[in-house]
Amino acid sequence: MANTDFGTQFFDEMTVTHFDGQVWSATDFAPSDRLPLHPATHVLHYASTCFEGMKAFRTDKGDINIFRLDDHIKRMQNSARGLYLPVPDAEQLKGMIIDLLEKYREQVPAFPGAAYIRPTLIGTDPSIGGAASPSTNAMLFVLISPVGDYFTVGEGMRVVVNTEDLRCAPHFGAIKSGGNYASALGLVMKAKAAHNAQQVIFAPNGDVQETAAANCLLINDKEILTKGLTSEFLPGITRDSILKVAKSLGYQVNERDISADELVEWCKTGEIALSGTAAVLAPVTEVVYKDSIHTVAGGSQAPNTLKLRQALNDIQCGKVADEFGWVTSI
Ligand SMILES: Cc1ncc(COP(=O)(O)O)c(C=O)c1O
Repeated sequence: MANTDFGTQFFDEMTVTHFDGQVWSATDFAPSDRLPLHPATHVLHYASTCFEGMKAFRTDKGDINIFRLDDHIKRMQNSARGLYLPVPDAEQLKGMIIDLLEKYREQVPAFPGAAYIRPTLIGTDPSIGGAASPSTNAMLFVLISPVGDYFTVGEGMRVVVNTEDLRCAPHFGAIKSGGNYASALGLVMKAKAAHNAQQVIFAPNGDVQETAAANCLLINDKEILTKGLTSEFLPGITRDSILKVAKSLGYQVNERDISADELVEWCKTGEIALSGTAAVLAPVTEVVYKDSIHTVAGGSQAPNTLKLRQALNDIQCGKVADEFGWVTSI
């Protein structure tokens, strides 16, 4: 499956639960190709929504390895709190994911393919009067999409460093909510049109944060460097995993502020990588800053980036023992 098709095919069913203001209903299976909603539904007007994106991998033994299930659920609960939506019950959501994967386990592709798991929470009050009030009713569903490898080794990736704009409202950066992507989209489109770039690194006032859909890591033979977590950007689970794997391989891990000038300087000798569930860890090959193009020394075959990516993939697909306790095997 080509990466252009990413997220366009789904298991025939999804798992669903509804919150009625008091309790979550028992989990149901439902067709995954329709969602009847009243046109006044809160989410359609006031963006009361959050979601997660995680992957499950088929191992050589035929097990299905869900990667960092508990951590994704925790992040979703945090997003729900930020939106004043009913917080999903962790055990129920875990069951919704596992039961759906169990039922359709034959459709989980072989590695480097995976099942991309998309739990989604929406506010369902049928009221357009709720601009200043949270939705008390909600729906939680889990969609699963069989996907191929999002990343092809050897492809170039040009990114623009934008020091003027924010990806989203700063107090909302750690929440995985659709509005943040809508907020960044126009800026990514402008970077594509002006510089033929694939992504934007948001660095408001020179403070390097993340792109519209991935975290940003500076890597060389000895060190891995990335901004420490704040409420302004998403605490990526791939970011956290790569930092821990890097530490275990003897890299020095530094979480601190990085300026746009420092990032551009880093291009001369190091590697720059974007991390996220879909692409895992992908090398940046060119950085556009103040209208100049800087070639990243590591290039598209960035050795440390690809080594770390491989080390993480090996844990995900069960090739090496999971000493971190990240995998839920079913
Ligand atoms: C804005 C943003 N930052 C970072 C990430 C990386 O997060 P994770 O590694 O948990 O997938 C994502 C998406 O997946 C994202 O949408």
